Amino acid sequence: MEVKRKEQRDMNTKRIILKDRENPDSEQLKEPAKILREGGLVAFPTETVYGLGANALNEEAAKKIYEAKGRPSDNPLIAHIADFNDLLPLVTKVPEAGRKLMEAFWPGPLTLIFPKSSLVPYGTTGGLDTVAVRMPADPAASALIRLAGVPIAAPSANTSGRPSPTTADHVWQDMNGKIQMIVDGGAVGIGVESTIIDVSGEEPMILRPGAVTQEMASAVLGKEICLDPAIISGPLKADVKPKAPGMKYKHYAPKADLTLIEGETDAVVLAINKLAEEKLEAGYRVGVICTDETSDLYPGGIIRSIGSRLKEESVAHNLYAVLREFDDLDADYIFSESFSRSHLGQAIMNRLTKAAGYHIIKVDREEQEE
Ligand code: TXA
Ligand code: MG
Repeated sequence: MEVKRKEQRDMNTKRIILKDRENPDSEQLKEPAKILREGGLVAFPTETVYGLGANALNEEAAKKIYEAKGRPSDNPLIAHIADFNDLLPLVTKVPEAGRKLMEAFWPGPLTLIFPKSSLVPYGTTGGLDTVAVRMPADPAASALIRLAGVPIAAPSANTSGRPSPTTADHVWQDMNGKIQMIVDGGAVGIGVESTIIDVSGEEPMILRPGAVTQEMASAVLGKEICLDPAIISGPLKADVKPKAPGMKYKHYAPKADLTLIEGETDAVVLAINKLAEEKLEAGYRVGVICTDETSDLYPGGIIRSIGSRLKEESVAHNLYAVLREFDDLDADYIFSESFSRSHLGQAIMNRLTKAAGYHIIKVDREEQEE
């Protein structure tokens, strides 16, 4: 496993602002498409988060992604395609479950894992015999991939260990000087990474929850789809290996010490106020992640609403921007409200619990427990 620690920022990163993300002008996308085809790195918007793209069939190009992100090279990349026909050359088989899910959710925020063909280099799959493939719905992403004429490997365009970027400014903070170009299409829509479903084994399995929810996938498959046990079991033990190698790293980690408070909203607000007050009195910078419904109930600290409980999409959309903001504000401690663990809440809680290093305080019981 190779991790490049020395920060290198020696490239002149160009930024182009898309005139119309919904109807992208192919003239504007010609230059980034050429950079990608020729083995360079271009960050671009998708409907989930910004991706850091490179030619997925070019091992040298994939290597540059790991260097720019400072990412361990055993962590495989997702190959992004623009058309259904682009899938067949990359895989040896399309299992029935994969076909059903593709038909229901592509293009969209769903990544599927298939057995890989020999066309896909091991440099892209982190040495695995499977390949992750996604067809993004974002018109700019789709047009760029089509113009490049090759599948595009694209992890989230953040420095490894930082929250995924949901705006071009976030990408700029992490990647300026390290990549050739950023295609700026404004803020993304969804805000959390795609759902990953492994269809290469006997039973399909969710490796990472996202906007295509467990309930939605189960409905299409006609039976309950399981989650990789490693991602629900909390802190990973040495003998539990997640099937998506990336899920074992402490991703999305804010600089501050983040704690989630889970339980009835009233009890959560009380508990957060008590915890925040203790830290404020001790002289720390304290942040509170709350919701539109509760933001008036916190008297002290830096208060940020992450969205409305009545609209979980808004919470997913704002999640990473709020975490990045607290990094910029140099908060020492952050206390956050929690969300349901079903539907889109499953993806939100997966990211939040990881960011908190699984530090959760439950307040709905008689006694507080950790
Ligand atoms: O929404 C998204 O999926 C974004 C946008 C840019 O498309 N991309 C993204 O990529 O989140 P990344 O690299 O940050 O996350 C990819 C995840 C990692 O956890 C990786 O381990 C897993 O997918 N993965 C990739 N290939 C795999 C494979 N063959 N088997 C199991 N897991 C795989
Ligand atoms: Mg990522």
